[in-house]
Amino acid sequence: MPSVPYVPSQLLFGGDYNPEQWPRETWREDIELMRRARVNTVTLGVFSWSRLEPSEGVYELDWLDEAIELLTRAGIGFFLSTPTASPPPWFTLAHPDAMPVRPDGTVLSHGSRDTYAISAPAYREASRRIARVLAEHYGDHPGLRGWHVHNEYGTLDHGPHAAVAFRRWLRERYGTLEALNEAWTTGFWSQRYGSFEQILPPRTTQYLDNPAQAVDFRRFCSDEMLAAMCEQRDQIRGAGSSAPITTNFMLPTWNHLEQWSWAEELDVVSIDHYLDTPGPDGEAHVAYCSDLTRSWAGGPWVLMEQNARGIIMADRTHAKTPGRMIRNALGYIARGSQSALFFQWRASAGGAEQWHGALVPHAGGEDEQFEPVVELGCILEAISEVTSPPADGVLNPAEVGILWHADSWWTLETPSMPHDSLTYREEVRSAHRSFWRAGIATDVVRPGADAGRYRLLVVPALIVVSDEVAAWLREYVEAGGHLVVTYLSGLTDEHQRVGLGGYPAVLRDLLGVTVTQHLPLEDGQQVALSDGAVATQWAERMRTRGAEVLAAYADGPVTGSPAITQNRLGAGRAVYLSAHLDQDSRDAFLLARAQAAGVSPVVPGAAALGVEAVRRRGAEADHLFLLHHGREDVTVHGTGVDLVTGTQLPGRTDLAGGTDRRGGLHLAADDVAVVRVPRGGGVELTAR
Ligand code: GAL
Repeated sequence: MPSVPYVPSQLLFGGDYNPEQWPRETWREDIELMRRARVNTVTLGVFSWSRLEPSEGVYELDWLDEAIELLTRAGIGFFLSTPTASPPPWFTLAHPDAMPVRPDGTVLSHGSRDTYAISAPAYREASRRIARVLAEHYGDHPGLRGWHVHNEYGTLDHGPHAAVAFRRWLRERYGTLEALNEAWTTGFWSQRYGSFEQILPPRTTQYLDNPAQAVDFRRFCSDEMLAAMCEQRDQIRGAGSSAPITTNFMLPTWNHLEQWSWAEELDVVSIDHYLDTPGPDGEAHVAYCSDLTRSWAGGPWVLMEQNARGIIMADRTHAKTPGRMIRNALGYIARGSQSALFFQWRASAGGAEQWHGALVPHAGGEDEQFEPVVELGCILEAISEVTSPPADGVLNPAEVGILWHADSWWTLETPSMPHDSLTYREEVRSAHRSFWRAGIATDVVRPGADAGRYRLLVVPALIVVSDEVAAWLREYVEAGGHLVVTYLSGLTDEHQRVGLGGYPAVLRDLLGVTVTQHLPLEDGQQVALSDGAVATQWAERMRTRGAEVLAAYADGPVTGSPAITQNRLGAGRAVYLSAHLDQDSRDAFLLARAQAAGVSPVVPGAAALGVEAVRRRGAEADHLFLLHHGREDVTVHGTGVDLVTGTQLPGRTDLAGGTDRRGGLHLAADDVAVVRVPRGGGVELTAR
């Protein structure tokens, strides 16, 4: 994680700005509008390579100098991107070997973006060069808020350069061919390799890939992209620039990075988050993204991009209401973001994303649609003190930890898993969603990290569990922790090899159970549990080996068998959930576990009133973010001041005196409040 927390002097507000798409008159109008909305930060140059280096070794920075000059005079800072996510046409034509190759051998061409072979020497060389040129020119500019290296690393290449680099990576990982053959179980289907040169990246083949090869390739791709990012970072530092360096991760539908190792190499972790959920679950999604990112960062982070106006679904973009845009922007900040940045500042008139929402819509900055942008700018200015972190670095105190590791995502993505529709993404998210619905704060935890501060640790679908991680979980429980492990966890080691003798082999003793059979359910099939819960999609046959039964299957394929168990060990307990519960049952199950572990919601009763309450701790005080996603008006009482409206809350004594319930701070649907309270202080919410 970054060694020093990223603490800008104010909350960063603005977004991707592409002046190269517009005439100079528009630049001047942009600056005026930015000032009106209190924009203080833009991201420049994300896809500007062909304008910055129109032909190999020829640089044209004047236009960018001019744009930066205008911004700086207006007091607007900038992230400067290295433009390497979109190599220009001259590069492709000069280096056709640096184009990415799909598993089926298709070589991609320029014409879009993100078209590069990450391991191609010519691409790496050209990337280092442009990073150096930019760092030498802009590295000590006073308006520079940070470096934004590349954009959303994530193009996978299966071509010849990738093959060479993959073999090099495998030699380092395994040392000998024997070790690799053993790890990849190449005894199956005559895959035994006689030399490293025989090994290929996973390419289109007759039937199923080798899962160990597939997951190693994903790990390699993450490491290879990280190495490319570090090379650019080193060029920037080599040129003498000391500005913080980041690269923007991407969620939620695809994942090509092992985020914990990436975070160690960055000065600040940043992420782009595009909502894909139009209903209320979208707010849970904002919280999920934010908790993940804060946990990877180990502190404050930057929300680099979000969509001001749209929620992107497969069929169309759903409109985001202005109220939701503001609530969501504050949702990220509540959970540690130091920014509300958007893609993009002004909606493009042409090009592939001309219909994507932006802060300035096609209708222009005089249109009423711009007013909520101005309103957000005012709110951010009013709450800016939240950026200072507390001395102990704990921004959002959480008593629940949820394990996360990309290895399990990638393993569950390989075909022919026990159940191909149960995805790691949804398994982790549904656990997180349960706590969000209960108003309980959560962190995300790296396997093997210090988990002592969590009363409850949840392990959803962590299919890959090494002996070391299993021992670490055991220590956690013995020391008094409450552990919840779900189906699909601990089924394989880090080489996707199944532990024998009953599932989940490495966790059997800890859980006090042996699972003997996986029982995927038919679509639409529901199985009742004895505690009233409803299982869909997945059940298991298991027997206990010392664990007590908390619930049994009440019907279905294994009626009467244990479904949920609890094993007491040392000072703690380990609960095993063998069935995929529907969301309401999962909510009830996890809430009961949280209560048993002594975990409380941030503001009791808030979630039931439709208010998301998040405690963000600051240098001097705590800030309670209250985001009203519900419909009915609520009143807030307590000791504190709402920074958004400047309202001083009436104290608890007024409330205890039973007097004026019409006093206090009132929140209607869509309202937000950020209440500064004394350290550890709370508020009370009542229906109005
Ligand atoms: C992001 C990307 C932006 C823009 C946005 C909207 O992934 O970084 O440049 O393309 O998506 O699609």
